[in-house]
Amino acid sequence: MRVLIPHEKIQARIAEMGNEIAADYGDAPIYLVGILKGACIFLSDLARAIPKPVRIDFMGISSYGKGTTSSGEVRLTKDLDVSLEGMDILLVEDIVDTGVTLTYLTHVLDQRKPRSIQIASLLDKPSRRLRPIEARYVGFTIPDEFVVGFGLDYAEDYRNLKDICVLET
Ligand code: IMP
Ligand code: MG
Repeated sequence: MRVLIPHEKIQARIAEMGNEIAADYGDAPIYLVGILKGACIFLSDLARAIPKPVRIDFMGISSYGKGTTSSGEVRLTKDLDVSLEGMDILLVEDIVDTGVTLTYLTHVLDQRKPRSIQIASLLDKPSRRLRPIEARYVGFTIPDEFVVGFGLDYAEDYRNLKDICVLET
C-alpha cells in the first residue's frame, strides 16, 4: 500500500471544489446525489465545503464485484427518496473509471426532467474510459492504478483510510 494523495491535499482540493461549485449555482438548493457506497466520505466533506443551500440524497448501484475489474453490468439497488423534477442535480461519485456507471445514471435521471445534471467526482481515471462522459468537477486525475481509501474499497475494505492509496496487487 502506497499513499498517492495524502489527506491534507484531499481536504484542500475539496475546499476549492466547494467554492467552484457554489460560484456556478444560484440560490436554489443544489441536490447532491451520492452514489453508494464509495462517494459517502467525499460527499460529506464536499457538502460542508459548499457555502450554499444543499440537499442530500443517495442512489445505490452495483458496479464492481469483489475484484478490481468491472463486471460491466450496472443495476440500481437504491433509488432516490423524492422526485427531483425541476431541481439542480449534482451527482457525487468517488471515481470515474470506464464511465459506464455515470452514463447509466445520467440517462436514468435525465428522464425525470431535472433542471440540470452535473457530475462532481473526487477522482478521474481517463485512460480507462469506455463511454464519452466527463465530470464537470474533478478533484484529481490519476493514472491507471487501483486505489483505495477515502470511500474507495477493495472487496469492501479500506474505505475508512484517510489518504488515497494505491493497492499493489
Ligand atoms: P465505472 O462505471 O467503470 O466508471 O466505475 C465506477 C466505479 O467503479 C466507482 O464508483 C468505484 O466504485 C469503482 N472503481 C473504479 N476504479 C476504482 C479504483 O481504482 N478503486 C476502487 N474502486 C474503483
Ligand atoms: Mg466500489
